[in-house]
Amino acid sequence: MADTTRLIIDTDPGQDDAAAILMAHGLAKRGLIDFMALTAVAGNVGIDLTARNARIICDWANEKEFPVYAGADKPLLRRLVTAEEVHGSSGLDGVELHDPQCPLKSGHAVTYLIDTLRAAEDNSIVLCPIGPLTNIAQVLNLAPDCVRAIKRIVLMGGNYFEAGNITPAAEFNFYCDPHAAQIVLQSGAPITILPLDVTHKAIITTPRMDVLRRLDNVNGPRLAGILQSYERYDIQKFGTEGGPLHDPCAVACAVFPELFKGRECHVAVETQGELTMGACVVDWWGTTGKTPNALWITEVDADKLFEQIAESIAVLP
Ligand code: RIB
Ligand code: CA
Repeated sequence: MADTTRLIIDTDPGQDDAAAILMAHGLAKRGLIDFMALTAVAGNVGIDLTARNARIICDWANEKEFPVYAGADKPLLRRLVTAEEVHGSSGLDGVELHDPQCPLKSGHAVTYLIDTLRAAEDNSIVLCPIGPLTNIAQVLNLAPDCVRAIKRIVLMGGNYFEAGNITPAAEFNFYCDPHAAQIVLQSGAPITILPLDVTHKAIITTPRMDVLRRLDNVNGPRLAGILQSYERYDIQKFGTEGGPLHDPCAVACAVFPELFKGRECHVAVETQGELTMGACVVDWWGTTGKTPNALWITEVDADKLFEQIAESIAVLP
């Protein structure tokens, strides 16, 4: 297929990460992306588990030779804060796990990203971070020339019009490594941000869950089981019919941007005050006069989003 999107996902699986990664494998099978690799980062759980879980998810997609690299085991400056209360001690509660067959690639994820971007043509690779931005920030710190090869960074993280989910002020990915988020935002790379403002409009309602559950394969019911476990925490917390499905929004926006709406804004992240650590300051009305550095997404066609998720999961084993 002409100019399919070359995509690398940086991830901390994580139950919603699993949905995003399975969706990406399905999009590749549909011929809609050239899915290049997974780079794991510490976040929801520690790096050993996020790297292992990434490999398990590739096994589920029958992609047992897919490139998976392990990256940062802690944020740039802050101590690692994890989210076992949401994702379980394994990071993938709600499903039976196995010892992965998909091997872990040797070499650090940051080295892989730098080497791959330096060998790539200008504006040719989409990076899709769906965890803390530690790996991406290290790439940009160590090799700022790599920005040349980045077509766009389409990331899940941050919040502004929606309250925080790890503190009242901040979203987990940006709270976990706020310094990394700020480095990415100041890099000059083209950035699209999928914050809680939009992911909280992508609710895993019962009908949407049932579509996955009724798929005539293994991964549909498997993902429904994972999301059922995942959303219990959010249903209890937000009192909604279902939980928000965060990470697939980033993968979907990278491939189907027409399903999303937002505004080019200047975005900065709090890295000083403990009370507001990781909070986003989004210049929605242009009051600072600062040049916009990100497309801040606030709207999604949720029905079409879940249709694309289901169509992508349906082509998997
Ligand atoms: O705040 C939601 C984000 O934090 C998602 O990426 C979820 O997987 C966790 O990493
Ligand atoms: Ca994640």
